Amino acid sequence: MKNMISMRDLSKKDILHLMEIAAKIEDGEIVPDLKGRLAALLFFEPSTRTMFSFDTAVKRMNGSTIIMSGTKNTSSKKGETFADTLQTIAQYSDIIIMRTPVEGAARYASEIVNIPVVNAGDGANQHPTQALLDLYSIMKTQGTLEGLKVGLAGDLRFGRTVHSLAQALSLFGVQFKFISPSFLQMPEYIKDDLEARKIKFTELDDIEGNIDDLDILYVTRIQKERFADPEDYENLKGSYILKKSMLDNVKTNFKVMHPLPRVDEINTDVDDTKYAYYFPQAKNGVFTRQALIAILLGEV
Ligand code: NCD
Repeated sequence: MKNMISMRDLSKKDILHLMEIAAKIEDGEIVPDLKGRLAALLFFEPSTRTMFSFDTAVKRMNGSTIIMSGTKNTSSKKGETFADTLQTIAQYSDIIIMRTPVEGAARYASEIVNIPVVNAGDGANQHPTQALLDLYSIMKTQGTLEGLKVGLAGDLRFGRTVHSLAQALSLFGVQFKFISPSFLQMPEYIKDDLEARKIKFTELDDIEGNIDDLDILYVTRIQKERFADPEDYENLKGSYILKKSMLDNVKTNFKVMHPLPRVDEINTDVDDTKYAYYFPQAKNGVFTRQALIAILLGEV
């Protein structure tokens, strides 16, 4: 593993290795040491969990970080190209972790610098490190990644987290329910990938009545910032909301996950149930990101 750009670049073996390292880091069995190493966090788009959990991950391993959050105070305002900014940052750091609104930008970056690049989200395309923490969370709560029934709900069209997660879980014989308004259905290219891997999925438009046989329900926010026409967003907002009253007949091992931030798609009355897993899920991001960085920097 040289970079982390897309979930499609990873084999089942790579994923399981990373899960194992993350678990050992969580248990304290492996303590990677990044003393003297520096990670550059370049966030051209807003972020809370991804940015802070990467920052935390590096610092927990005694490494340090430089952070660019937005482009307001950087030379891109003076007309510097993305390529020149990256080449410069690569002179200072050992690894680049980056988020941009541009699909394919992380791949492009990995081709122009000679240090590892991690895609922390490229537009509506991919968010592979979120998928890794999602897999780790599923493994922790279900004891396996194999043969589960997983519902992906919400904005499956513009949501990069569900694109990466669907591709990742397709390596483990999962059965999917894709639950979304028709405007926000899973893109054809992802469905084609799943079909090529003989993964079964159904497409539904309502959460209610469709979750009792699931092991995991993964809910996502409507990605307002990706809509070309704000009116489309206005028509769709609030169109699906998970409520506590819908959980009466779910399986005992059932968990609700969400990459966060949430807007209104999970009612707060779900938070106190034993099914809510979205905040521990966020914590798992630190262990998986520690594992990934340690692997990419050759420290484990
Ligand atoms: C997600 C993202 O940025 O794609 N957030 C995250 O990284 N946890 C999901 C979202 O913004 O809705």
